[in-house]
Amino acid sequence: MTLFIEYRAAHEIRWSGPATGPDAARTVFGTDTVMPNTQFAAYFDQLKADLASSHRPLYLDSPAELLSSQYHPLSPVAAAAAAVSEAGMTPPSGSWSAGLAKLTRAKTSNAPPRPLSHLIQQLRAVKSPAEIAVMARSGANSGAAFADSLRAMRDRNLVSEHMLSAHLEFGFRMRGSKGNAYVPVVAGGPNACILHYVNNDMPLRQGETVLIDAGGQYGHYASDISRTYPISGKFSPAQRELYQAVLNVQQESIRLISTNTSLDHLHYHSISLMTEELRKLGFDVTDTDVSRDLYFHHLGHYLGLDVHDTPTVSRARKLREGMVITIEPGVYVSRDPRWPSRFHNIGIRIEDNVVVTAPGEASRVLTSGAPKTIDEIEQLP
Ligand code: GLY
Ligand code: MN
Ligand code: MN
Repeated sequence: MTLFIEYRAAHEIRWSGPATGPDAARTVFGTDTVMPNTQFAAYFDQLKADLASSHRPLYLDSPAELLSSQYHPLSPVAAAAAAVSEAGMTPPSGSWSAGLAKLTRAKTSNAPPRPLSHLIQQLRAVKSPAEIAVMARSGANSGAAFADSLRAMRDRNLVSEHMLSAHLEFGFRMRGSKGNAYVPVVAGGPNACILHYVNNDMPLRQGETVLIDAGGQYGHYASDISRTYPISGKFSPAQRELYQAVLNVQQESIRLISTNTSLDHLHYHSISLMTEELRKLGFDVTDTDVSRDLYFHHLGHYLGLDVHDTPTVSRARKLREGMVITIEPGVYVSRDPRWPSRFHNIGIRIEDNVVVTAPGEASRVLTSGAPKTIDEIEQLP
């Protein structure tokens, strides 16, 4: 593993502060070799030549120009020599630096590079115990922030979507997050029926619910939580019934997580569960109606460094121990005469982050600090 880093000179440190230097790059990142990034173009040309002559493939995802030796705008020889002498570094091999100019011009006949990203994504999809520990902290911090914000809203200290959004981000940051993991949705009343509502600038009205989809980025890992809370702290009868229906689907979907199933399979099952729940509430619907017009998104996705992590890993694949996924069924009742009018304009989504565990073990919910059951919400101290 060779890491290319910026070697900051004293005057640069004075303006911009210190950056990871070669010693720390080795100890922190465990690299075999550290080089100034000014040497990258030359190094890369040599690497391509070596791979071509030994008929080995190059795996690469990056802009096309990276392949063209024009990567660094400066003369690689001058820049590399300057950086090496400034850092007091010894190049990896004695003649290497002197040969840079020749290598940079070297003509190679590489096969086209092979895509790398999907291989990395396969590796990223299964988290190590250390990653899961960080994600557990991320989920716990974000969940606690949800509880704080629910309390503040119930106590009438947050009277707009804007204030609620700000309060949540404050809660994430006060617990060590760098900020929001993504642009949050804070959707009061009928705004909850707009899936990607991000204006977050309307008043919160007593008697309505608010759908919140937010999470902090902690130690580089995203949390992704959705909750739907009554703004007053107490659900109306219609809100309560619809909420419990979605909650039943969400909890049953979490129970069904196993290494014998896939996100897609869980999704299709959750549609049937939702149809059953809605029929009990008087909706005259089929699975098709539900998936087309009431619950029109996927049950979940992989989660990690990105909120929609490892998107090239198929959701049809069987889950594996150590994967972290979201489970987020929702229902969004538009003002449509097909739906019972008492539920019109209510939108509900409930989303947790869950670790897939070994066969026979219950999966592990990382975001249970965010009040979720009706009792947890209404009885929050
Ligand atoms: N917050 C984006 C999602 O739930 O997928
Ligand atoms: Mn979400
Ligand atoms: Mn999500």
